[in-house]
Amino acid sequence: MSVYKKISYEVKEKIAYIGFGYNNDKSMTVLDEDTLKELDAIADQLKSERKNLEAAIFFTHKERCFLAGADISLISAMKTEADGAQGAEAGQGIFNKIEDLPFQTIACVHGVCLGGGTEFSLSCKTILMSDDKSTIMGLPEVKLGLIPGFGGTYRMPKKIGLPNALDLILSGKTVNARKGKKMGLATEVYPKERIVEMAKKHIGRSQKKANLKESLTDFAQDNFLSRKVIFQKARESVLKKTKGFYQAPLKILDTMEAGMMKSRSSYLASEAQAFGELCVSEQSKNLQHIYWMTEKVKKFPGPKGEGEIPSLKRGACLGAGTMGGGIAWLMASNGMAPLMKDLNTEALELGLKQASSNFQGALKRKKLSRDDFERKMRSIHCQTDFTGFKKVDLLIEAIVENMDIKKSVFSETEKYMRDDALITSNTSSLSVEEMAKALEKSERFAGLHFFNPVHRMPLVEIITHSKVAPETVEALYNWVLKTKKTPVVVKDGPGFLVNRILMPFLNEAGYLLEEGVSMKDLDEACINFGMPMGPCRLLDEVGIDVGVKVAKILHDGLGDRAKSSGLSAKMVEKGLLGRKTNKGFYNYDESGKPTGANEEAQALLPSSQKTMSESEIQMRVILPMINEAAIILDEKIVETPADVDLGLIFGIGFPPFRGGLLRYADSEGLERILSAIEKFSSSVDKDRYEPAEFLKGLVADKKKFYDL
Ligand SMILES: NC(=O)c1ccc[n+]([C@@H]2O[C@H](COP(=O)([O-])OP(=O)(O)OC[C@H]3O[C@@H](n4cnc5c(N)ncnc54)[C@H](O)[C@@H]3O)[C@@H](O)[C@H]2O)c1
Repeated sequence: MSVYKKISYEVKEKIAYIGFGYNNDKSMTVLDEDTLKELDAIADQLKSERKNLEAAIFFTHKERCFLAGADISLISAMKTEADGAQGAEAGQGIFNKIEDLPFQTIACVHGVCLGGGTEFSLSCKTILMSDDKSTIMGLPEVKLGLIPGFGGTYRMPKKIGLPNALDLILSGKTVNARKGKKMGLATEVYPKERIVEMAKKHIGRSQKKANLKESLTDFAQDNFLSRKVIFQKARESVLKKTKGFYQAPLKILDTMEAGMMKSRSSYLASEAQAFGELCVSEQSKNLQHIYWMTEKVKKFPGPKGEGEIPSLKRGACLGAGTMGGGIAWLMASNGMAPLMKDLNTEALELGLKQASSNFQGALKRKKLSRDDFERKMRSIHCQTDFTGFKKVDLLIEAIVENMDIKKSVFSETEKYMRDDALITSNTSSLSVEEMAKALEKSERFAGLHFFNPVHRMPLVEIITHSKVAPETVEALYNWVLKTKKTPVVVKDGPGFLVNRILMPFLNEAGYLLEEGVSMKDLDEACINFGMPMGPCRLLDEVGIDVGVKVAKILHDGLGDRAKSSGLSAKMVEKGLLGRKTNKGFYNYDESGKPTGANEEAQALLPSSQKTMSESEIQMRVILPMINEAAIILDEKIVETPADVDLGLIFGIGFPPFRGGLLRYADSEGLERILSAIEKFSSSVDKDRYEPAEFLKGLVADKKKFYDL
């Protein structure tokens, strides 16, 4: 019987069995304060009983979790570097005690084992992994702007070699049992039911001799020059991937490189110091903020209805175009055996091709077997009529963006569907309120706005209207979560959430170009702010004609603050539609790669160029986004600033290290933001920069967005 509350402890035939996730009803076990204290006491007990013990076997009582990592709320509560460093040292001390035990220690990893969980496992002499799908290991700290602080950067290279360790630590990616064994992290892989039993076979067994490849890796690692090259390459790759915006991977590299020849204690002291510095940095706090926002999203925010929540098992998609093919892929991936309907077989073939290309990445990365791929592709039923629509629980319409056509298609489709099925539209700009009028059961209808390409873009806007039932919204919300995407509930309105805030960014870009700012300066300024691409490149990707259409809808709906410069319309007249015609602001080769600025687009711009500072360009495009977001909150299009921030990070790739648009605004100070908007209102344009009343109110009350 265990004397501990959170960890079970039992000795049988000279083997100590230590079980995590004991006595609690949560699905995940985290290394919170109590668990760490108990683990520390257990390490002491194991040491004091060492003469009577041959081994300690660590296992889990949970269905799908070994140790999910350190409790992030402990990290978020840290206020000073010293707090952070002390916290890391405390954890390191416990894991050192485990590492120093004079007998065999075996971590039987089954389920999620991340961060501190993996660092704990590394302090054991042997790691076994279960072959269960839920079993993963990794050090994702870098994603929170942190360095693994419990000895992970010290022990991982010793276990799997420097190049593999750098790959895992710098990317934060996870490995399953198969990969874990291949890279030497796990000694062996067993079925979850037998892993503890099998662990006994590893007692008294010496670790297998390193093979030739491992010996060469060790040699490379021990060699000063080759180590230098490995770190140099890793640094170059980090800078290329992160454009230098993220400090954690660089700090990790510095710490690891400087510590390669150090003793354990002095290495760990510098790891703890680095952890302390990073955990209170603004960047890490911003990334932690995103973590908490994403955690919150996992629960439907309400309001809840009284009725039953429809379960969405069978899917259908109307339209097999760019979006329809992607949606069919998503449904097939989630076992919904979708029906895909279009007007003719040629269109359906294109849709199937789109769906198949979405699976290729997973096939290549071996996340999907060829058999599964073929099974999933076969599960997509292509058709030109409504056969089988009575079985459908969720329909997503993705046909041409035309209100009259969509309305008539909805009233026809509804006749072939059950009364309790949900019908949704993937419209990117049309009024969902208006569309709902075409349906008898409008309470079962909503907008479900995916972004292009469906398999890459994580955000889905769920657009509500005055008649929608809360049960419909909740069912869609849960379904989006199930597909591993991020839902945000948005009230109907021009451009919904993301496109509406993106609009001033793209509009201002047009005006800046017309004022004489060069495309290069404009795009570079935005990239240097952290945006994934500049507005000219982005417009080329979206399609300049699509941009013009959406801009008109927003201008009609929002008035003159959303008026656009005439530049895009002139480009459409000249047939410069962006990447799809290989010509837009930039020229593109056949593979779609930009090959340089397009002279025809340049010819539409003023001949004399204006020099504007990078920060002024950035403020010209970012401030109106903040202003529009304030109006959106005022109109209750979304409920919270976090909805805006998640929407923009997951919808357009707003730089995560800034924590989101409104968190960025808060950190800059709303008073400063407002006065800069007022300045542009008099120096640039009164309508486009008219300060939002809501923003003025926040400043008058000395509040931030996140005080709401
Ligand atoms: N492409 C994007 O970037 C994007 C992003 C988000 C949302 N959307 C929205 O998704 C919808 C589809 O866009 P797309 O880019 O996939 O268009 P698309 O032109 O690539 O495909 C539309 C498909 O619908 C088919 N179709 C037309 N009428 C139909 C009918 N009555 N029944 C069945 N099929 C019919 C067409 O044959 C075509 O195959 C639009 O509402 C669009 O606004 C597009």
